Amino acid sequence: MASYRLAMRAVLLHELGGPERLVLEEVPTPAPAPGEVLVRIRAAALNHRDLFVTRGLYPKIALPALLGSDGAGEVAALGDGVTSLHPGSDVVIYPMLDWGDDPALRSPASSILGMPRAGTFAQYVCVPARNVYPKPAHLSFEEAAAIPLGGLTAYRALFTRGKLARGETVLVPGAGGGVQTFVLLFAKQAGARVIATSSSEEKLERARALGADLALNYAENSSWEKEVRAAGPVDLVVDSSGGETLSKALSVVRPGGRVVLYGGTHPEANVKLFALFWNELSVIGSTMGSPQDFAAMLALFDKGLKPAVDRVFSMTQIVAAMRRMDDASQFGKIVLSW
Ligand SMILES: NC(=O)c1ccc[n+]([C@@H]2O[C@H](COP(=O)([O-])OP(=O)(O)OC[C@H]3O[C@@H](n4cnc5c(N)ncnc54)[C@H](OP(=O)(O)O)[C@@H]3O)[C@@H](O)[C@H]2O)c1
Repeated sequence: MASYRLAMRAVLLHELGGPERLVLEEVPTPAPAPGEVLVRIRAAALNHRDLFVTRGLYPKIALPALLGSDGAGEVAALGDGVTSLHPGSDVVIYPMLDWGDDPALRSPASSILGMPRAGTFAQYVCVPARNVYPKPAHLSFEEAAAIPLGGLTAYRALFTRGKLARGETVLVPGAGGGVQTFVLLFAKQAGARVIATSSSEEKLERARALGADLALNYAENSSWEKEVRAAGPVDLVVDSSGGETLSKALSVVRPGGRVVLYGGTHPEANVKLFALFWNELSVIGSTMGSPQDFAAMLALFDKGLKPAVDRVFSMTQIVAAMRRMDDASQFGKIVLSW
């Protein structure tokens, strides 16, 4: 990649072994290739993916890696041939690279910004011009940086794949997670009834404040699914936790209902097949989202919605920020600011 002579600060992962291996250092500022833009990052945000990468849990990890999929900032320079953008405009970055032409399925060549391509945990990042969208005007850079990957994943899971309809009931397990807070927000905005679960009373309070109609503590109440069943019927489950939570979630969906999975934090799940086929459930996978999903998701924020930002750390405190995510202490997105 071409670079300017000026150095920038960036967080690099030279070796695997967890977030403690991340190092803040000076590297050359990249220069945009034809068709690309250079974005000055004002704020970035963490995703569980970043933590997983530091631990070597992603296939084909290329080191050193400059992580970070979420970012908001200003257009700093244009590569040759870019005429649609202006230096100085405020933007958010669509983190899915090379989705391809089919909105229904991503191309095998697609990848996520922030490994292998250098990501947003830096003062500047180069991305294709088509990956840059106007920042919703009423959001701060910190709020805008919280949106891209989580909002996109939630939007596709809930609407494009989950086909949520007004008046339906959605179960949102682990509602404090970065993506799940968007699922909760979007479902309420779409006129759904939301049953949320979370691991602490404080998070349950925050879920209720975001509109959850029923909020249950899965850490203290191992029979939470009975309460969900009593409050049901559940039309749609959107889950990324997997494990026992998913097994229980499958048992509360109404006959003919849908279960959308976009992650597996606990990758093994004991699934009782009888409930699946007898109740004719649809189990649907979902990943990130198309450019159409991203534009439609951003439009929700144009209507005044705000993301749930857990805490804003300085980029120099990235290890502490990662530890907060590792402990699942957060409610919503953990943001990093320069
Ligand atoms: N396919 C995709 O495109 C895609 C995109 C984004 C994320 N993901 C995956 O989705 C998962 C979540 O990502 P994230 O960035 O949102 O992570 P995150 O912000 O760290 O959230 C994780 C949340 O999972 C919940 N959780 C953990 N164990 C649980 C359990 N046993 N039962 C119920 N909830 C549990 C916790 O919720 P509480 O705090 O409420 O207890 C925790 O806050 C990760 O596995 C990630 O790799 C996939």
